[in-house]
Amino acid sequence: MYDISEFKVKQSPVILGIESSCDETACAVLRGREILSNRIISSAAEQAKYGGVVPEIASRMHTEAVDEVCRLALKDAGLKPADIDCVAATYGAGLLGALLVGLSFAKAFAYAMNVPFVAVNHIRGHIAAAYLDKPDLKPPFITLLASGGHTAILYTSSYTQFKVLASTSDDAAGEAFDKCARVLGLPYPGGPNVQKLAESGAPCISFPSALVKNSKEMRFSYSGLKTAVINYCHNAQQRGEVLNGFDVAASFQRAAIDPLVKKTVEYALACGVHTVTAGGGVIANSYLRSTLNEACQRAGLELVLPEKKFCTDNAAMIASEGLNQYMQGNFSPLNVNAAAAIPLQ
Ligand code: KG4
Ligand code: ZN
Repeated sequence: MYDISEFKVKQSPVILGIESSCDETACAVLRGREILSNRIISSAAEQAKYGGVVPEIASRMHTEAVDEVCRLALKDAGLKPADIDCVAATYGAGLLGALLVGLSFAKAFAYAMNVPFVAVNHIRGHIAAAYLDKPDLKPPFITLLASGGHTAILYTSSYTQFKVLASTSDDAAGEAFDKCARVLGLPYPGGPNVQKLAESGAPCISFPSALVKNSKEMRFSYSGLKTAVINYCHNAQQRGEVLNGFDVAASFQRAAIDPLVKKTVEYALACGVHTVTAGGGVIANSYLRSTLNEACQRAGLELVLPEKKFCTDNAAMIASEGLNQYMQGNFSPLNVNAAAAIPLQ
């Protein structure tokens, strides 16, 4: 029988990671932090027809793709199922039906091969993407987390612990990018399309910053910025003016990103850490990457920035977080359920 108390921790284990929280069915194989393979089958093109992710479609497409994506990842790594020492899969947060596909597949794999299973918190996966860029990275460091569901600055104190220093009180940055894209008539996925438009525009429109001032607690807010962009576009339409979408995108992007960069550096200096890392889909944004890089250089901070493909949803980051938990012997029982929402802390 499957008994997690019998499993032992190995050095440099081979970890199979599986991610299925939204519209990407992904599988990666790591040996320690070394990436042996990283595969994604995306349903984004199908979802784009509906202007966003339809949960039912996501679940069905994960079901069709999960076996294939794992077979491809094992083939790329030149390994067989019997070579895997641990299986790690996202259990939340995300779309329930979508999560259950990857989670159930991973549990079945772990059971069949009699190896430890690690249920991974997706957000911790985004934090752990930094170790893929720099395998010998050691906590403590400051992490800027910006995805479709979360926006926060974290103090990552150890491989398995972090503290929230600041977060958004309403929408996440990625959500605001997606709303901005919609009002500008750009297709799903919104973030990369807003970035593309912004590259040809000037940040000449004064939108409210995502940083909440006059509050005792430092926090971000994206709903005011989102509403300002929507109002600006609707007012222009009502007046019959031609909307300069390039400038709207560039101005929105600056208001959304500048405060994240500024506060991340300020927290790193205040906490006395020398390293800044980042994770989440919005960290794939070119403007954010260049401004964060410049700000860290000016402040004399080391910046560990995962490649763009490891910022948006992927399975290598899930395997990387799986390794953090595995090394502590934090194996999960097979009755772990999927969770649509997991509090940041
Ligand atoms: O981490 P992620 O792939 O999924 C979640 O965990 O939510 O993040 C997705 C979010 C979406 O809102 C998407 O529009 C945004 O990340 N995003 C971007 C860029 N690429 C993805 N936002 C701005 N610029 C980008 N290049
Ligand atoms: Zn994500």
